Amino acid sequence: MNILRALFLLIVIAGGLFLYAYSGRYNIAATVPHTEAVERLLSQARDKSIEFHSSGISTPPLDDPSLVEKGFGHYDNMCSGCHGSPGTEPAAGFNPPPPALAETAGQLMPRETFWVVKHGIKMTGMPEFGSTHTDDEM
Ligand code: HEC
Repeated sequence: MNILRALFLLIVIAGGLFLYAYSGRYNIAATVPHTEAVERLLSQARDKSIEFHSSGISTPPLDDPSLVEKGFGHYDNMCSGCHGSPGTEPAAGFNPPPPALAETAGQLMPRETFWVVKHGIKMTGMPEFGSTHTDDEM
């Protein structure tokens, strides 16, 4: 009996969420922040997804100065317009906003950054570069 009740409750909750989504009442405007609960859920899902999908990637040595120089040029061309650079702010108007990578990039493992750059992030302004760049370039 308890299982039936739990099942009924689940169906009611799922139905309610579906109706709410279908009603159009949830405001997807970039100008309106998510509620705290939705924000937390989406951020957690993003972080866990990046962690999970990048876990098998092995990182080549990244301290070769010629790689650093090449990476600098690529970053300047393709990333700084959104993410800013030391001395410039990230672009405004995005929700979620592009993080200032000059300050935050160290919070991700290199393999996580690589995975994000290769695949992009759904329903954000973060594009994928895997279809236009080789793994070495990224
Ligand atoms: C058109 C704007 C745009 C461009 C160009 C862009 N990004 Fe992003 N990027 C974003 C946005 C917006 C997010 C935030 C996504 C989120 O919070 O879920 C993001 C997120 C990221 C993240 C994840 C950060 C984190 O803490 O989870 C990384 C890493 C990243 N970008 C790297 C890059 C690199 C490297 C480039 C250039 C090769 C680049 N991005 C180009 C808009 C952009």
